[in-house]
Amino acid sequence: MPEEDQSVLQIQGRTSLKGQVTISGAKNSALAIMAGALLCPEDCRLRNIPSLVDVARMSQVLSALGVKIRRQDNILDVNASSIGKSKAPYEVVSQLRASFFVIGPLLARLGVARVPLPGGCAIGARPVDLHVRGLQALGAEVRIEHGIVHAYVHGSGGRLKGAKIYLDYPSVGATETLMMAATLADGETIIENAAQEPEVVDLANFCRAMGAKIKGAGTNAIAISGVERLHSVDYQIIPDRIEAGTFLVAGAITHSELVLSPVIPDHLTPVIAKLKTIGNRVIHEGGNCLRIVPGELRGTDIETLPYPGFPTDMQAQFMALLTLAEGDSVITETVFENRMRHVAELSRMGADIRIKGQNAIVRGVPLLSGAPVVATDLRASAALVLAGLAAEGTTTIQGLHHLDRGYENLEDKLRRLGAKIQRLTSDPQKENLASAEATKVTKNNGFQAPSL
Ligand code: EPZ
Repeated sequence: MPEEDQSVLQIQGRTSLKGQVTISGAKNSALAIMAGALLCPEDCRLRNIPSLVDVARMSQVLSALGVKIRRQDNILDVNASSIGKSKAPYEVVSQLRASFFVIGPLLARLGVARVPLPGGCAIGARPVDLHVRGLQALGAEVRIEHGIVHAYVHGSGGRLKGAKIYLDYPSVGATETLMMAATLADGETIIENAAQEPEVVDLANFCRAMGAKIKGAGTNAIAISGVERLHSVDYQIIPDRIEAGTFLVAGAITHSELVLSPVIPDHLTPVIAKLKTIGNRVIHEGGNCLRIVPGELRGTDIETLPYPGFPTDMQAQFMALLTLAEGDSVITETVFENRMRHVAELSRMGADIRIKGQNAIVRGVPLLSGAPVVATDLRASAALVLAGLAAEGTTTIQGLHHLDRGYENLEDKLRRLGAKIQRLTSDPQKENLASAEATKVTKNNGFQAPSL
């Protein structure tokens, strides 16, 4: 585990922002597609890959499995032709839940996989029972011993067998794991009650570009016809809808007009709808540009749901916004059991929020006041940054290792928009842990990048 990062973000609040911000590639696409590259025994080129700690960790997992991987700016060249080991390293999997997704491609390619159970995290227990039951339906024998998931395909040359799978919950990760596993299975797989998130569709499009036969991604029923082998691909991932949503809220909470690009507006429908209900205008300026024009903030109710419902990953950011809205708002978190830990920190800044079960009742206040606060998880840290931008006075945010998992150069992007924000390290000599770790160039172990 990296030493506890002593850096803090310091924000002088009540500064209006102005200008255009570039949205990076989607973290949750990048992580799933990096796992998906294990399905391909040839070179894969992945473009628009954000420079994030989580991406660096997934690279470590792939390297540990024998994958040749090289980063060059936001391009990742991956070659999984000789994945020898089928065991992902515990010390990385325990820090990055998404690395559990490699179990599907490993089983599909090798007929065997040993992946540590991902621990829980700040927002919930994060079980993987839906992944495991789905893999068993595809013919794998799965047992869990000493915190390791051992999966094995007996007979039929170690090849999984297509099956009909019903997910009790439209889990994003389980849908992705099982869709990847099914691409090389023998026969037809149907995943019912599948997740419909844009990142699931992006993963499906990536697999189809490698020759997989997948229909229905983006609906609640996905059909996969297994093939013998997948082939090389050069693929660009989608922009990050949650980063875009975070910057839209930054415009609304600081009463600033901002332009964002590239974005895919259809991926932000519930977020845009809610911003308009609250009193802002959001204009699609053609192509992949969105403009937010702020208005007076009015309270509203929000319930997080699987896509196309309101995204749980935007709940904390909207709570920060609604602390300053006229009137009351009720925010209901239905996806994760413990995703309200930002409430205590927002309250330290003067917010009026009461929790009743999975509901937070937010009563608007005229002003927040800057304070020292601690981030508890990725999207909570984004919410604290947004609150700091709007608050009177100075806010210092600790726990930046959460933020750096999912936002590429957030403070640089905000500073370019005029925010008074800087990262202070306890030891000025110490390079910014995040940028060092996130842009760590994975050692180029003899990988010859294909020509661009
Ligand atoms: C993905 O996590 C995202 N992460 C999360 O983003 C996102 O919040 C979540 O989907 C929901 O949209 C990545 O894509 C890397 P789930 P995932 O499986 O796949 C329960 C962020 O901030 N469940 O859809 O882990 C689970 O406990 C992160 O970027 C089971 O019960 O989410 C949760 O309550 C946070 N059994 C619910 O389903 C299972 O086997 C949704 O989880 C799997 C999940």
